[in-house]
Amino acid sequence: MSFNRREFITVAAVTTTATGISRTALAQLTERKYPVTKIAKASDLKTGEPLSFSYPDDNAPSYLVKLGRPAQGGVGKDKDIVAFSSLCTHMGCPVKFQESRFVCPCHFSQFDPAVNGQCYQGLATEYLPQIRLRIDEAGDILAEGIDGLIWGRIENKS
Ligand code: FES
Repeated sequence: MSFNRREFITVAAVTTTATGISRTALAQLTERKYPVTKIAKASDLKTGEPLSFSYPDDNAPSYLVKLGRPAQGGVGKDKDIVAFSSLCTHMGCPVKFQESRFVCPCHFSQFDPAVNGQCYQGLATEYLPQIRLRIDEAGDILAEGIDGLIWGRIENKS
């Protein structure tokens, strides 16, 4: 099959539009898969003192922390409240929050919570999965999605 220039442009425009709609619809479907879960009151957090919780299910240990400095994806008036899976992306050891970063005690990978959980040292090659947060009108911090794959899973939601 061959197209003249005008037909080619028409087919390309229709294909692009159709693909764009499909991706948008797919993204919306994917978003619906995550629960919206209250984690804590923003006013109860203390800078540098992480709070443990599980998300999106009971087998997904995570940390919520107020960094005291702006963070990518951070919420709150100072944009410094973030949450991450606490399973190291190398081999799944539980990371610990120390001196404004997450440190894995197994092989010493370190992750920066102000830069989307980027690994900047050690054997891990992936960012820590970051949990998307929102603060509602009542000041409650809500988890509503994850960017990145939780260690050991083929999907974040079972
Ligand atoms: Fe964390 Fe290996 S399990 S660095």
